[in-house]
Amino acid sequence: MTKAKKIPKRRSGFVIREFRIVEYDALIELWNGAGLPHKPRGRDTKKNISSEIHHANAIFLVAEKEGTLIGSAFGTHDGRKGWINRVAVLPEYRRSGLATQLVREVEKRLTDAGIDIIACLIEEWNKESVTFFERLGYKRHNDISYFTKRRYPDI
Ligand SMILES: CC(C)(COP(=O)(O)OP(=O)(O)OC[C@H]1O[C@@H](n2cnc3c(N)ncnc32)[C@H](O)[C@@H]1OP(=O)(O)O)[C@@H](O)C(=O)NCCC(=O)NCCS
Repeated sequence: MTKAKKIPKRRSGFVIREFRIVEYDALIELWNGAGLPHKPRGRDTKKNISSEIHHANAIFLVAEKEGTLIGSAFGTHDGRKGWINRVAVLPEYRRSGLATQLVREVEKRLTDAGIDIIACLIEEWNKESVTFFERLGYKRHNDISYFTKRRYPDI
């Protein structure tokens, strides 16, 4: 499913399409500009992202306007549950529905893959993103704690 290339969507001068690894530097620039926490020397190295986008269930979408990456939303699934992450929009393009369009497209592709539950993890301090996901119909679970086990402290 996620391997099927879809026709890019053009809206208001930008296009939503699949991310290409040759755009890695532009992606990091986007995340820096958007203030999205990321680890270019940890989990977000070019090697790691290159490997992730080639995974069968990867849905790595970006919004591009006139050669600049202005938004991103990544998705994946484990056959049971879908995950959305790396939703970011440059400040000058916010509040015009861009992140909504990106997330809706990831959701559609997950749904097409037979996934009925879609989840995302948001840090408590990130009030804007909490509001954003609530607005898109996501339900908050205050009774769940997030546990991780890392091979390296800074991964
Ligand atoms: C969160 C983020 C992706 C939203 O992008 P966006 O393109 O502005 O979102 P949309 O325009 O689609 O917003 C849809 C709705 O979400 C809510 N929303 C979005 N940003 C909001 C904000 N700063 N404050 C309050 N509500 C907000 C609003 O209800 C909005 O609808 P409205 O504009 O009609 O009121 C963007 O602010 C961002 O890049 N933040 C930094 C990166 C980040 O933390 N990402 C989340 C990782 S989980």
